[in-house]
Amino acid sequence: MSDILRRGRLAEAADKEVTMFTSSMDADKWIFVADIAVDMAHTVMLKEQEIISSSDCSSILEGLLAIKDMGIENLDHTYEDIHISLESKLIDLVGEDVGGRMHSGRSRNDEVATCIRFVLRDEMLGIMDDLLGLRKTLLKTAGENVETIMPGFTHLQHAQPTTLAHHLLAHADALSRDLERVVNAFSRVNLSPLGAAAFASTGFAIDRTRTCELLGFDGLVENSMDAVSSRDFLIESAGVFANIMINLSRMAEEIVIWSTSEFNFIELDDMYASTSSIMPQKKNPDTAELIRGKSGSVIGSLMSILSICKGLPLSYNRDLQEATPNVWRAVGTTRTAVRIIDGMIGTMKVNTDTMALQSVTGFTTATELADTMVRSTGIPFRTAHQIVGVLARGSGEPTIGEIDAVAHSVIGESLSARGLTEEMVREALDAVSNIKKRRVPGGPAPEEVQRSLKNRMNLLENDEHALKELNIRIDGSIKNLHEVVDRCIKDSGNKGNR
Ligand code: ARG
Repeated sequence: MSDILRRGRLAEAADKEVTMFTSSMDADKWIFVADIAVDMAHTVMLKEQEIISSSDCSSILEGLLAIKDMGIENLDHTYEDIHISLESKLIDLVGEDVGGRMHSGRSRNDEVATCIRFVLRDEMLGIMDDLLGLRKTLLKTAGENVETIMPGFTHLQHAQPTTLAHHLLAHADALSRDLERVVNAFSRVNLSPLGAAAFASTGFAIDRTRTCELLGFDGLVENSMDAVSSRDFLIESAGVFANIMINLSRMAEEIVIWSTSEFNFIELDDMYASTSSIMPQKKNPDTAELIRGKSGSVIGSLMSILSICKGLPLSYNRDLQEATPNVWRAVGTTRTAVRIIDGMIGTMKVNTDTMALQSVTGFTTATELADTMVRSTGIPFRTAHQIVGVLARGSGEPTIGEIDAVAHSVIGESLSARGLTEEMVREALDAVSNIKKRRVPGGPAPEEVQRSLKNRMNLLENDEHALKELNIRIDGSIKNLHEVVDRCIKDSGNKGNR
């Protein structure tokens, strides 16, 4: 048996079906490039600590660069994971006396945890950028619709008039909290488990902070048992992704409803629509439906990770391998969904006339009429609520005469006698003046929405700036790693294999 992993302890090759069952090669395509970076950082550190010679170091690094160029498809896929298959390819290239030294002071347990964190960090930077894009589109569309009146809903029933800008700002605010959660989770993802080895660290005089620095991590997952066995960072990240998908699915649901002939508030661009194979007239919002649907799959990924991690004793258990692909699925789906809904919102046509027309159907100004009664006559709100409630049983907007008649039956006197005028009633029943009055912080009045928009734009710019800095820092560390690798190869004079 030439299998570099099994040849010592095990006499027989693994059963084919067992190999397929236990292999992570498929999902490991996510961490192929990361694994090479991790191998490089570890190798450089081994040389700096004089655990391996400079010439071995440079041969290993050259071998790793060659493997990277060859691509994952040239690795032996019968091995149980990318780490061992990569090491075996290295040994093929540079010989065991050199390549066989790379894994000193390390285990696949700390290696894989490092790779996952390394890749997840990039995906998180990506999702931060995607979320900023969507927020920008929402703010832009809101800015164009500060005066676009529409009915606001509770229980999906017409409730009170508001504006489209006010509605979109609500979604934008939810997404900024999502971004905060990604940033927060990032701080616990971007830590280095490398050097923990199997779980008990190593007797080699390795330098954990050096590999941490070379790989651009912000610090160590210090305790070596914790480093190899904890996957709470996966749970946390998948939880953040699931939360994003919940927010997107709520927006998607509105897109579906608003596209119906009953609502007719918006029309999606053809790019985001499908049609029927039998009904030629159909324009269906399938893309939005699938965002709603895929939110279920992301929740499923989170549930899988949670259930896989539950009850695992310390330290490493192979179960952990089963958790990893779930986070790749979750982050991939979430990132695409964010970008697609961004495109849908940025290109949809808003039927402002229909929205305005609908803004007063269903007596949406009833609250303002009751409030007006309170302010003009001094009756308690609860009494006004009763009077307007009785009026709402009738059809259409009430006249001052009808108001007085109902008031008489409820409190024994007319409201016009107490100061309510026809002009006040007309104003209360007007959607535009309803909205203008609601100028408390966070309300839909155009001036308040403008203030809020300006503030959100500033916050967006700050977030964009912070993300740019973060990207520069991470990119810089990777660039530095490659420079160090190049220098190691050059300095050893490329003496090659011994
Ligand atoms: N493929 C494994 C994983 O994803 C790598 C670590 C394997 N470690 C082991 N002791 N078998 O977890």
